[in-house]
Amino acid sequence: MSLNYTKKTLEHFLRPKNIGKIAHPDGYAQIGNMVCGDQLDFFLKVKNEKIIDVKFLSFGCASNIATASILTERVKGMTIEQAKKYAWQEIVNDLGGLPKQKIHCSVMAVQGLKKAILDYEEKQKVTSGAIRSKKTKVVKKKPSRTKKTNTKK
Ligand code: FES
Repeated sequence: MSLNYTKKTLEHFLRPKNIGKIAHPDGYAQIGNMVCGDQLDFFLKVKNEKIIDVKFLSFGCASNIATASILTERVKGMTIEQAKKYAWQEIVNDLGGLPKQKIHCSVMAVQGLKKAILDYEEKQKVTSGAIRSKKTKVVKKKPSRTKKTNTKK
């Protein structure tokens, strides 16, 4: 049985964009599908809440590679908020369609991206918490001398 892949899907499968790793990523996630056994790793570099670089590694099928490839092309340059709204249906549209039995590949790619974004956001919380705690000084209050007021008249 052969699957009907579009020309665009085959292009992204044969010459994937943004494949590889990013050293010291701001966000990272690994995601897998227990049924088909495919896996994706996503690496994000973020500056001023904008995705300035994104790369992926695939241990999966042709659609796994093609969907991750087109996703990285689309989300590079997006803000974190825009990337959070990126949906698997957009991948399917951008590829000109996917065989029904391969739709889950696009779903997994989007889940992987969102997991990497979550990792980025978690790291931001930790970092901003650490900065806050450095800035917060504990000031011990000396017992204040209260002025005695003469209540007698
Ligand atoms: Fe499962 Fe492609 S067959 S991700």
